[in-house]
Amino acid sequence: MPRRPLIAGNWKMHLSVAQAVELAEKVAEVAAGCNDRDVVIAPPFTALDAVSKAVGKTSTFIASQNVAWEKEGAFTGEISPTMLVDLGVPMAIIGHSERRQIFQESDKMVNLRVKGALANGIVPILCIGETLGQREADMTFKVLESQLAEGLEGCTSEMVGDIVVAYEPVWAIGTGKTASKEQAQEVHAYLRQFLEEKYRKDIAQKIRILYGGSVKPDNVDSLMAQPDIDGALVGGAALKFESFARIINFI
Ligand code: 13P
Repeated sequence: MPRRPLIAGNWKMHLSVAQAVELAEKVAEVAAGCNDRDVVIAPPFTALDAVSKAVGKTSTFIASQNVAWEKEGAFTGEISPTMLVDLGVPMAIIGHSERRQIFQESDKMVNLRVKGALANGIVPILCIGETLGQREADMTFKVLESQLAEGLEGCTSEMVGDIVVAYEPVWAIGTGKTASKEQAQEVHAYLRQFLEEKYRKDIAQKIRILYGGSVKPDNVDSLMAQPDIDGALVGGAALKFESFARIINFI
């Protein structure tokens, strides 16, 4: 079965509620015109409820930008998976490099978040990626393997089949430097191979692996043409309607 492409927009810490709803409605209209790909938007927490109400019944999926692992409790500043379910939010970005680098989230924490999401029916978009220093030191595969293995620690094949992986080289995020299509494909094929060895082959074949890092209208087509690139996780270009619409409509 071919994997269904998935284009996701990560709005990071941008947009007021009104701006988020306006952009979400326009994106949902474009997404409704495509029946061969999935579209996901990840607004900030403050806009999740409004965006969920605005586009919840359309084909556009909503993701949060993080999720806690417990259902409730003394976790100041965190949002639980059941709170997301309550808002009708079915997916969550987990382990974004900005969480790892700026907020010191560890692989252990990422793993707890992944398991907490899965236990409550939320689909994790698990982000992994190497820094420039790690790439230059020839550590790319080692780093990715350990982020993926630790992020999925304790997950069975059945659990893993539901996740989405996003490969986001840290050096390509917000820098305008995209990994070349060859660099990205090489990593995606490696990750799929790794998942095949660790889990079942049919499961690894089913998992969607997105590329993220300076995806733009002018590079999305060549990235999406790669056999193991199943979608894109888009930052900056997802905040501009015209550019995100073009990315959704990749050829
Ligand atoms: P940019 O597309 O702005 O490089 O951001 C990528 C990203 O971090 C998406 O999660």
